[in-house]
Amino acid sequence: ELKGETIIVVLGASGDLAKKKTFPALFGLYKEGYLPEDLSIIGYARSKLSDEEFKDRQIGHIKGPKEDASSEEKSEHDAKLKKFQEISSYISGAYDNDDGFLALTKAMEEIEGKRQNKGSGPNRIFYMALPPSVFTVVATNLKKNCYKGAKDARIVIEKPFGKDLESCREMMSALKSQWSEDETYRIDHYLGKEMVKNLLLLRFGNLWIESSWNKNFISNVQITFKEPFGTEGRGGYFDEFGIIRDVCQNHLLQTLSILTMERPVSFSAEDVRDEKVKVLRCIPAIEKKDTLLGQYVAAGDKPGYLDDDTVPKGSVCPTFAALTLFINNPRWEGVPFIMKAGKALNEAKVEVRVQYKDVTPGIFSDIPRNELVLRIQPDEAIYMKMNAKTPGLLTRAIPIELDLSYKRRFERAKIPEAYESLILDAFKGDHSNFVRDDELDVAWEIFTPILHWIDGKDGEAPKPEPYPYGSRGPEKLDEFINQYGFKRSNTGYSWPRTDMS
Ligand code: BG6
Repeated sequence: ELKGETIIVVLGASGDLAKKKTFPALFGLYKEGYLPEDLSIIGYARSKLSDEEFKDRQIGHIKGPKEDASSEEKSEHDAKLKKFQEISSYISGAYDNDDGFLALTKAMEEIEGKRQNKGSGPNRIFYMALPPSVFTVVATNLKKNCYKGAKDARIVIEKPFGKDLESCREMMSALKSQWSEDETYRIDHYLGKEMVKNLLLLRFGNLWIESSWNKNFISNVQITFKEPFGTEGRGGYFDEFGIIRDVCQNHLLQTLSILTMERPVSFSAEDVRDEKVKVLRCIPAIEKKDTLLGQYVAAGDKPGYLDDDTVPKGSVCPTFAALTLFINNPRWEGVPFIMKAGKALNEAKVEVRVQYKDVTPGIFSDIPRNELVLRIQPDEAIYMKMNAKTPGLLTRAIPIELDLSYKRRFERAKIPEAYESLILDAFKGDHSNFVRDDELDVAWEIFTPILHWIDGKDGEAPKPEPYPYGSRGPEKLDEFINQYGFKRSNTGYSWPRTDMS
């Protein structure tokens, strides 16, 4: 239980991230009673807004109870929402001079002065929902103007952390000159997702998984991220980064590191992160030959990437990438890890697919491989594709699944939003699911060479393969994956999603 006076300051309070993610997550936690009783929230941004205008925006993306909820539930929600707004206030100020930050300190001191209950929790949390161009200046100004007098101050920050190894190091050292590693919480929101958090338990709590989790049993692993929409409206931001910096270097690599690390000495933040860094250091930089890039083009009534007005003409920015990584350690030597990520594809899905090797033939001809699928979203599930005898008098194999679908098995469980889980950890001071500085550094080492090639730093930038909006990706995708030994079975098996009515 969190006790004590806490103020959370959301910087960039009028922006998209704050509206869509930070405030809904804060409210979710507040409503369920996870946050300290005497919490105060201060929004800070450049926009000149009255307190009322801010409060309207603050709750704009908060979902109400379901339509069939009881009237008590509805009125409880409304009451909590009202209270949430009552504990919130807004300060408008610049990011690059002291005045606004001094006003912020004054407001915090006023709140703190009124408090009776001096507890042991953090008293000032600065959540930076800001564009990267102002990370450093804001962190510096916060330290200069808003740190003194705080019992325990923390900053929470989210990618992009630079664009390559060098720019990341530059940003990190500027931030670290102001805020210690212990005070810093770097968000990768995939580390807050239920199924990603589940990986350690699944792997190390199940002998049958752990004992087959190596090159002797596993042929190849795919980590797939698919979104059914393009960069509509976000093209300007996206074009500067591309899909690899947007999701592969962070979200998918984080997933991969937990999937492949050795067993940690304990579940403590440092023990877990030590193991993640160790496995990442065994991954050599990705090579050009292990890369397939794509960019979506118009299809039906859907626009192509280049049709977006905010995208520079003739951009060769990849909106799709398939990348194969290898881990040079005794457990994983030679096993390809294929990352695939794309915008404007045929479905919304994030999953890990571990394909086992063939069983010895002889008694079998052409029997499909086992596959363990960890479905991160939508609808968390774990299922093992396996072979069994068709029920009945004939001895014929049938591909079938061992299925753990969360919606069916944990009917009443409420799975928290990734940001809820991470913000709560930041309040509690648990760093386990935040990115440590050395993790970030190795992550960039793995990706920087191909990113420089894609940016045209080694000569002409590679041209991405076009793929139609709403398709599975570039035509060469299957050929790309197959070269790493992935075998698609032709049995027509498809996993029957139990959550679909
Ligand atoms: C963000 C990327 O980090 O992750 C977005 O910038 C992407 O482009 C998003 O859409 C995906 O997150 P989620 O939680 O919707 O899978």
